[in-house]
Amino acid sequence: MHIKTRIAAQISQSLTTLYGQEALDPAAVAALLETPPDPAMGDCAFPCFTLARTLRKAPPMIAQALAEAIGNRGFAQTRATGGYLNFFLNLRQLAEDTVPAVLANPGRWGASDLGAGKTVCLDYSSINIAKRFHIGHLTTTMLGHALRRIYTHLGYTAVGINHLGDWGTQFGKMICAFLRWGSKQEVEQGGVGALVDLYVRFHGEVENDPTLEDEGRAWFKRIEDGDPQALAIFNWFKDLTLRDAQRVYDLLGVSFDSYAGESFYNDKMDRVVDELRAKGLLVESQGAWVVDLSAYKMPPCIILKKDGATLYATRDIAAALYRKDTYGFAKSLYIVAYQQDLHFKQVFKTIELMGYPWYQELEHVSFGMVSYEGQTLSTRKGHIVYLEDLLQRATEKALAIIEEKSPGLENKREVARQVGIGAVIYADLQNNRIKDVDFWWDRALQFDGETGPYVQYTHARCCAVLRKALDAPAAAPDWASLDDEEARQPLLLLARFPDAVQEAAQRNEPSILTRHTTLLAQAYNKFYYERRILDDNPGTAAARLALTRAVRDVLRTGLYLIGIEAPERM
Ligand code: ARG
Repeated sequence: MHIKTRIAAQISQSLTTLYGQEALDPAAVAALLETPPDPAMGDCAFPCFTLARTLRKAPPMIAQALAEAIGNRGFAQTRATGGYLNFFLNLRQLAEDTVPAVLANPGRWGASDLGAGKTVCLDYSSINIAKRFHIGHLTTTMLGHALRRIYTHLGYTAVGINHLGDWGTQFGKMICAFLRWGSKQEVEQGGVGALVDLYVRFHGEVENDPTLEDEGRAWFKRIEDGDPQALAIFNWFKDLTLRDAQRVYDLLGVSFDSYAGESFYNDKMDRVVDELRAKGLLVESQGAWVVDLSAYKMPPCIILKKDGATLYATRDIAAALYRKDTYGFAKSLYIVAYQQDLHFKQVFKTIELMGYPWYQELEHVSFGMVSYEGQTLSTRKGHIVYLEDLLQRATEKALAIIEEKSPGLENKREVARQVGIGAVIYADLQNNRIKDVDFWWDRALQFDGETGPYVQYTHARCCAVLRKALDAPAAAPDWASLDDEEARQPLLLLARFPDAVQEAAQRNEPSILTRHTTLLAQAYNKFYYERRILDDNPGTAAARLALTRAVRDVLRTGLYLIGIEAPERM
């Protein structure tokens, strides 16, 4: 059982004995539990201030009464300090409870059935057709991927959706440009890069020849009307883009259950428009049809343009209805940068006004903007980094380090890929998602300090220790030998890992796991330097080895959940 759960049950029970009716249930207690800033104050603390108000008693009095009621049970000692009841966990007991439990189910520590029977949809990456994959897309891709793994770990059915941006007049322009200036061979070879060039050329030429604009629009109309020639070219553009993107997804280990993008909803637009009209929500505004949201202090949500064309928002409303019908989600997440905050507020509000109570299950998981070495991303100014280049440079750098430090390593290239890409992903999921990130080449390629490679290296270190111990005599672990300051931190971090997984899901914040996993790596390294793992006493050695094995397993699980591989040697 999680430490928090156990402590919460204990407090709740004692509160009931002491105060009857006014007590808090275990869940309410668990929500209040804190980790003291200074470990010397305890491993877990229950602040009595909230309770003090309902009970009309001073917080220190409640803390004192609880300390006396709970006393020193098997798993913890309690002490009242001011308005806090502090718990000091019994290390021997903690080791005996935690380490075998971790080892019993490799790769499953922190897994639960919390989400059993529930589906969560995750809309992430959601790239645009005929655009190159750059660092601006990394965060949505990796956040979504990590959250998908985290929810799956908690027993949810997670559905990964790449809501492709494959609708809009620009695709008509691209067809026009391709037919005028492109060649099949050139585009086949150049991939998305060639499409981007054609699009740029279109914008250059349209300055001198404004009729191109109409030609482009006409081609878009032909796509919309299902004209076979237009569709064939457009679908080919789409394949090219997805083929390029797939290379990046393969490198990152990212996958999806669905690629239903904006165009997938073409035949599902009428339902939205009809329903909005029938519910009296559509009003005309300067020729367009909109949902008036002024009562909610928002600009109107535009549903149909003057020419009858649908918009991004219309398609998102159709997609939400479709996902609810198809997947019956308990939660539907949109992992999209905060520039689109207003868009999602409008879409969610419109769905609420349509009378669907499940609007509450929709959540915009927004995140900060990416800039490039202090400047806004801009293809034109060259302030841009393509993901494929970034991943390649990171891999090369890792390879150079491996060549220098462990030239004898097998599978050098494979390990270099795991480490290089691990560094990039880690850097992306290291901070709270809402923080803006400024991309710097040297920072993205940093392998020392708090980085992915550091955690990977600690994992490989554990593997090495375990390899060395293969022929150590088997003995029963003497858990009491882990009752020291060096073992304390790794043990606590192991025990708290399940809470970190849950919190990461509750807040849709994988960085909680990144941090937790890093702390565990640091704590283990400290233990490793201060203690001889293969101690002469077989019981001590067995306990330290078991701890090492548990740390290895949880580091691997933590890395996996944030999307990073864990090589056994590096
Ligand atoms: N393709 C969009 C963009 O690049 C992101 C789509 C996000 N998902 C959604 N359902 N709107 O801005």
